[in-house]
Parts: sequence; structure tokens; C-alpha cells
Amino acid sequence: MKALILSGGSGTRLRPITHTSAKQLVPVANKPILFYAMEAIRAAGITDIGIIVGDTHAEIEAAIGDGGRWGCKVTYIRQDAPLGLAHAVKIAEPFLKDEPFVMFLGDNLIRDGITGLVKRFEAERPNSQILLAHVKNPQDFGVAELDGNKVIRLVEKPEKPMSDLALVGVYMFDKTIFPAVNAIKPSKRGELEITDAIQYLIDQGLKVNSHIITGWWKDTGKLEDMLEANRLVLEGLETKIEGDVDQESKLIGKVEIGPGSRIVSSVIRGPAIIGENCLIEKSYVGPFTSIHNSVILCASEIEHSIVLADSKIVDIGSRIEDSLIGKNVVVCRDCGKPRAYRFMLGDNSEVSVL
Ligand code: DAU
Repeated sequence: MKALILSGGSGTRLRPITHTSAKQLVPVANKPILFYAMEAIRAAGITDIGIIVGDTHAEIEAAIGDGGRWGCKVTYIRQDAPLGLAHAVKIAEPFLKDEPFVMFLGDNLIRDGITGLVKRFEAERPNSQILLAHVKNPQDFGVAELDGNKVIRLVEKPEKPMSDLALVGVYMFDKTIFPAVNAIKPSKRGELEITDAIQYLIDQGLKVNSHIITGWWKDTGKLEDMLEANRLVLEGLETKIEGDVDQESKLIGKVEIGPGSRIVSSVIRGPAIIGENCLIEKSYVGPFTSIHNSVILCASEIEHSIVLADSKIVDIGSRIEDSLIGKNVVVCRDCGKPRAYRFMLGDNSEVSVL
């Protein structure tokens, strides 16, 4: 079996972070989301992986390389424009050939991995196997209608959802998917939808099995989902202290501190992860916070947030919460006159002030 990871697309819902970075490389618990997909695929015994890349191809290729780090062989497949998930399958046909494959959306995280699901697909050999999950906002996903265990209808982001069962971003197919992606027409949003291609399989009388997952699953396309994914992954964190923690500091609960980092006169309440070469001084880091490498946090408080590498947060009077702070960002207090907020914000930034 092969795997196809979709890592193109534009990431509009995560701007401005995605102006400069691929959304699949935003770290959750200090590890790029895409790496979780690589690990899950490798754990299922699949080593031949195609990765669909778009405008952010250079960054994705730099992060994943030839896949050797995971014991895999990676082939990059360029998609000129994000024309849809089924379009990605279409252009991947020369790579996938006749082999069955698992398609994994590069911004999806699935707690229990895919090993059991791949085994089940190989044992039952349907034409396609889809995963479903009960969600509160089905209108934001592909939605399935079942008759008992049988999938009878799939609709992409319906205004009036027929159920609360969303399509999870992990699909399994055999070669019958190629005529399907070639037969369908673009949707209202102008994309070739994989949801429509699977509906085509159903209409042709082919076998589409479904499985409702019970462990957590996250599509990290939006800020709140990204923070929620970070929370869920950090819940499984184990304590590991490789940096220096001075006597005045207090670590509570599960905390990971990377090599070269210094914790000075600070309180860290886990689960929280601090990367390498950070300085946390006279500060409070609260639960469900991930701080990436070479960050300086001084006289500040932060909780339930993600801070990317090389950023500096100094002397902020109020607590920062529910935030995603990009790379190389400076957030500081300015006591100069006149007293005012002074910003340099990228396009599509969001700031809430007290
Ligand atoms: O997350 C599950 C949902 O994913 C499903 O419930 C939906 O049925 C499915 O259409 C998809 O919806 P999204 O709107 O969330 O898909 P998104 O545009 O975010 O793309 C998913 C991933 O695929 C993302 O990593 C970007 C990549 N992609 C997307 C498109 C449209 C490509 O590589 N090429 C593309 O053309």
C-alpha cells in the first residue's frame, strides 16, 4: 500500500501565519502537524509516500526531505493551484499507479493513528474506506448520511447537514477512485471534491465502508482548532527536563524543557512544553502552552497558547491567552510618550486589546 499526503492548499483561515509558512508546518506541541501524519503512516507499515505540494513546496521539502528520517521514501507531486482534493488524487495517479492507498490530509491530526484502520481496509478490501466522526458543526465538513452501517449519501459542507457525521481527513482507496475523480465536475467553490468522487463510487454500486472513530480528531485549519489540537496533544505529555531550572522557579505538573533553555524565577504549570535555547524569566507559563525554540519570555504571563521560534515577549502587564504568536515576533511594553498602542501588524492579523 502507498500513502498520499495533501500538503498544498492556501491556508487562508490561518493568515497571517500562512503568509510566510505552510499551515501543515505550524507546530502542535512543538512538532509540525505534518510530522504526525508521517509518523502515523509509517507506524501503519507504509513507506512509499507521495506528498502533494503547492506554493509552499520549498518549505515542506526542506522539513520532510527524502523521508529517510521516518524510514520512508517520499515523492513530491506539484499541484499548480489548489483545485481540490480529488484534483490532487488525479495528478497523483502516475505515482499511485494500481496500488491501493491511504490519503491523509496534511492538516489533520488523529489520536489513535491509522494502523488499525489500514489493517481493516486490507482485510475487508472495499473500494474505499472512509472515517467519520460526530461533530458539533457538521456544516464545516463533508457530511455522511448512513442507513445502518451503509453510507448512502455524502455532501460537502451542506447548508442543512443530514447528520452530525463529518468526514475525517483520512481516506482509503483502490484504483477505482481514478475513473471517479475524472468523472466529477467542480463544486460551487470551484474545487474537485473528494466527497463527490466517493459519492460517485456509491452511485456506481462500488463498496464504500465507513468507520466512526471514537478517539479525538482535529482538522487544524482554524486558530481555535489549532489551540485545541495543541491542548489534546499536550494532555499526553511526559515530564522531561533538559534545560536549567533555577531554585526560585517552580514546575507543576507535566513539563518538558529542551536543552539550552533557562527557567529563572518563573512558574510553569503543565502540561506545557518549552523548546531549546529559550529564556523564561520572572514569568508564568500556564497549562496547554507550547513555546518553540529560542523564545524569550520576560516578566510576562501566557496560557493556552502557541509561540513559534525566535519570538520575544517582554513585560506584558496582562496575561496572554488563546493566542498563536508567529516566528520572530516582538510583543513588548513601551513606556515612551505619548502613551499609545504602537503596532506593526501583517495583513490579516488579529489583535484584541484590553
Ligand atoms: O478535515 C476534514 C475535511 O477536509 C473534510 O470533512 C472535507 O470533506 C474535505 O473537503 C476537507 O475540507 P477542508 O475545507 O478542510 O479542506 P482544505 O481545503 O483545508 O484542505 C485539506 C488539506 O488538503 C490541506 O492540508 C490542504 C490540502 N489541499 C487542499 C486542496 C483544496 C491540497 O493539497 N490541494 C488542494 O487542492
